Amino acid sequence: MCGIVAYIGSKEAYPILMKGLHRLEYRGYDSAGVCLLNGDIRVFKCKGKVSDLENAIQNENLSGTIGMAHTRWATHGEPNQINAHPHFSENKTLAIIHNGIIENYSVLRSELKNRGYHFVSETDTEVLIYLIEDIKTNEKVSLEEAVRIALNQVIGAYAIVILAKDSPNKIIAARKGSPMVIGIGKEEFFVASDATPLIEYTDHVVYLNDEEIAIIERDKGLKIITIKNKNKTPYIEKLEMSLNEIEKGGFPHFMLKEIFEQPRSIYDSMRGRLHVDQGIVTLGGIQNYEQKILNAKRIIITACGTSWHAGLVGEYLIEDLSRIPVEVEYSSEFRYRNPVLSEGDVVIAISQSGETADTLAAIELAKLKGATVLGICNVVGSSIARATHAGVYTHAGPEIGVASTKAFTAQVAVLTLFGLLLAQNKGTIPKSQFQKTLLELDAIPGKVERILAMDDKIKAIANIYKDVKNSLYLGRGYNFPVALEGALKLKEISYIHAEGYAAAEMKHGPIALIDEHMPVLFIATRRGIYDKVISNIEEVKARKGKIIAIVTEGDESVKKLADHFIEIPDTEEMLVPILATIPLQLLSYHIAVMRGCNVDQPRNLAKSVTVE
Ligand code: G6P
Repeated sequence: MCGIVAYIGSKEAYPILMKGLHRLEYRGYDSAGVCLLNGDIRVFKCKGKVSDLENAIQNENLSGTIGMAHTRWATHGEPNQINAHPHFSENKTLAIIHNGIIENYSVLRSELKNRGYHFVSETDTEVLIYLIEDIKTNEKVSLEEAVRIALNQVIGAYAIVILAKDSPNKIIAARKGSPMVIGIGKEEFFVASDATPLIEYTDHVVYLNDEEIAIIERDKGLKIITIKNKNKTPYIEKLEMSLNEIEKGGFPHFMLKEIFEQPRSIYDSMRGRLHVDQGIVTLGGIQNYEQKILNAKRIIITACGTSWHAGLVGEYLIEDLSRIPVEVEYSSEFRYRNPVLSEGDVVIAISQSGETADTLAAIELAKLKGATVLGICNVVGSSIARATHAGVYTHAGPEIGVASTKAFTAQVAVLTLFGLLLAQNKGTIPKSQFQKTLLELDAIPGKVERILAMDDKIKAIANIYKDVKNSLYLGRGYNFPVALEGALKLKEISYIHAEGYAAAEMKHGPIALIDEHMPVLFIATRRGIYDKVISNIEEVKARKGKIIAIVTEGDESVKKLADHFIEIPDTEEMLVPILATIPLQLLSYHIAVMRGCNVDQPRNLAKSVTVE
């Protein structure tokens, strides 16, 4: 969602800000804007892409060594130029960019209106900067003090940057609930929603915590206070991300690059954790909580989107391997439904970005109720990684394409290790079986490689189905979550309506949709309840549905029934989801490209959903 970049230093700010906005495009947005301070305070903004903004203002005076820029994902007010950020205060001496939602904005707006203020936009953000102006003028306080007082009146989430015409050497930034990172260079500072815009300038960063305000001044450097006016010592961390990782590396889209990175990212997620030669699994990040987890009465997995699908695979895996009951919850439901939770429960929050607002709120609730909360996150140092008691990083590397691919397979790999760790300590599966699974898991990256080599065949199938309007994805057992994930991938990036279903549930509704125009994708691998899936395929065939099947190498029965098939290498049933997901990612990718869709930044979607 909304992207923030700000700069103060000796260089020209504009090129740095624009490059930063381009790096943040992956988060999803619908308008863009920039503010530069250079004697006066200038704001330029427009609806559309960052490149539209650059084209629109190329003849303007864009000089200045301090500035801020923003990409907006509309929440309050439609995406247009007026609602785009930055927003001025009424007297046009202050400007703000904001990510998040000010929940009490309408009360504040009415109060300010009663005091004679006139609003230009429909946004909650404008209300905040008017409030800051009001406090600064009436209480005759410094800019940072006005911001601090205002933030004490605000309910909701924010990551904000503020510039003032009369403070040309100062940036004020603050956060609560929305991510914000400060990059520290040589006599220059950067502020951003995530580390991607900073990476080429510095690897020293400070992650701002909730309710902290950063005051960055050219001559005095960085100072952090809380909104309760306590001084904080900035904790400087080293970034472990390289520029290579956030560039396309010769691929036409980030999504394709990330799909092809999976042999490596899955391997990285298991590196130093899967010890086949010693016949053990270790997860250093949760070592101190191992006993608590082994004694857990129940494990509750909470997540959103693709991470929720990984959680479903986790449910099957952990119950199979450890016999500990597992429930999987959408974070957005869990946080509001007054769930029964106690100290004996272990909650696992799964998140690629580590910033999803609903998952963060679910974590806070679980902690409040005394549960042990673990995180499975991809982004190191993210809010969720910091909010949980302990956790395991997926180490898939930065995921830029909005549709999650390599993060999903890394999450499933980590959940597999987690289940195996429990089994190892509880003795819930025979030793020989345990060792066999470790060997199979070790072979997974190589098998993913073999699936990727079938890209051309998958592309040819994509070409046949690229114009369909609807589709159904069906699977059973471990392949049920794979069906959900496959359908989500297709609808996210190609805008084709796709439904994922448990194959046997088809008879309870979706079967009514089947005719000769309806492609049905079956994940029909040989393990598990294979025969039953074959019966489901027959049922679709009898109604003239078109069948695309993901089958195990060497399978003959399903191949005979299917119109098209994609073979994947054989493996243990519980490891099939990682393999079976890969062809579905490629199929969606090719269909979306053939339909002319923007696969890396699909319409209306955001990579990191930092508002609820
Ligand atoms: C958004 C993204 C999805 C992602 C979901 C959860 O909807 O577009 O790809 O699965 O958020 O995000 P998280 O970062 O918590 O995994």
